[in-house]
Amino acid sequence: MLYLLVPPNRQAAKLCKILPHHFVPRNYRCLKMLLNYIEPVFRPPSEAESLILQVTNGCSWNRCTFCDMYTDPQKKFKPKPIDDLRKELQQFVAMSIPVRRVFLADGDAMTLSFRRLLEIMQVINEYLPDIQRVSAYCLPRNVKNKTAEELKQLRAMGLSMVYVGCETGDDLLLEKICKGETWQSSLDALLKLGEAGIKRSVMILNGLGGTRYSEQHALNSASLMNQSQPEYLATLVVTFYKGVERFQQGFGGEFQQLDQLQLAREMEMLLSALELEKTIFRSDHASNYLILKGVLNKDKERLLNTLRQAITKTGSVALRPEWQRGL
Ligand SMILES: C[S@@+](CC[C@H](N)C(=O)[O-])C[C@H]1O[C@@H](n2cnc3c(N)ncnc32)[C@H](O)[C@@H]1O
Ligand code: SF4
Repeated sequence: MLYLLVPPNRQAAKLCKILPHHFVPRNYRCLKMLLNYIEPVFRPPSEAESLILQVTNGCSWNRCTFCDMYTDPQKKFKPKPIDDLRKELQQFVAMSIPVRRVFLADGDAMTLSFRRLLEIMQVINEYLPDIQRVSAYCLPRNVKNKTAEELKQLRAMGLSMVYVGCETGDDLLLEKICKGETWQSSLDALLKLGEAGIKRSVMILNGLGGTRYSEQHALNSASLMNQSQPEYLATLVVTFYKGVERFQQGFGGEFQQLDQLQLAREMEMLLSALELEKTIFRSDHASNYLILKGVLNKDKERLLNTLRQAITKTGSVALRPEWQRGL
């Protein structure tokens, strides 16, 4: 992709701002690694400066009806051989580029067995001994076949954060979107990760239930968060950039997308029901119209006030324009 090859000048920075937020990498240093990527490659917004190490291609589940990230034919799930990773890291280290963080791509690197993850962490530590953080996407079921001790061992080697796409805490919706998880399975995984000392960054999708299930989506998602107390929580607006047809099937064709006002009302319900001790909350992903940031519950009232202002006084709170939105 052309924009990934531009040098790190002001024009490149501008381009990166308007391009889909999840795309790899804003960091010119990482572009050299791109040669080995099977594209597209996605990463969380907060991993913009990280070395993106593609330890698998695609997503082992790949069935969520809202997600088209790994549906291209070249993205069929496959782990990358450890020797290939070793060579990539060797090349990277030879360039003497300082790197503080590594993100293990693609869609659910945590699906790999404990043994394989251990090997990967050993290789990372061998080539990047000063690494501060290694992170990955993680489905709740990815931790089912790993003991608490094994997770602790990975944590001790630097795997200190995972991004968990819970999407919702509502069982009916989880079934409709084909997530393959339940409120309970999501909670079990979040607690297990927390006990191992691995930080949890959870994603919830604003608008996922449409008009009909908006309230139960908000309330059950809040209860899942309250029970699990994740360190980070991000909300994204569900966006159908390849069309809504596949998603509609789960709803029998009756899914009605929320408009901006309804999205804000759902967020108000979610925030009102959250009882969090110390969770860093972000609703600043490129898919969001209204940007909200704070620590919950400390900033709950301030965030609710902003939301209520956006709901009651249209135009009084700045919203991200449609053309700037992306995934
Ligand atoms: C690349 S996925 C990987 C996450 C991981 N596989 C999981 O499911 O836990 C990252 C996240 O992007 C978000 N996402 C995917 N498709 C989306 C869409 N169509 N609209 C909004 N967010 C989406 C979901 O929250 C998803 O969990
Ligand atoms: S949301 Fe996650 S698990 Fe679901 S298809 Fe996308 S990458 Fe795979």
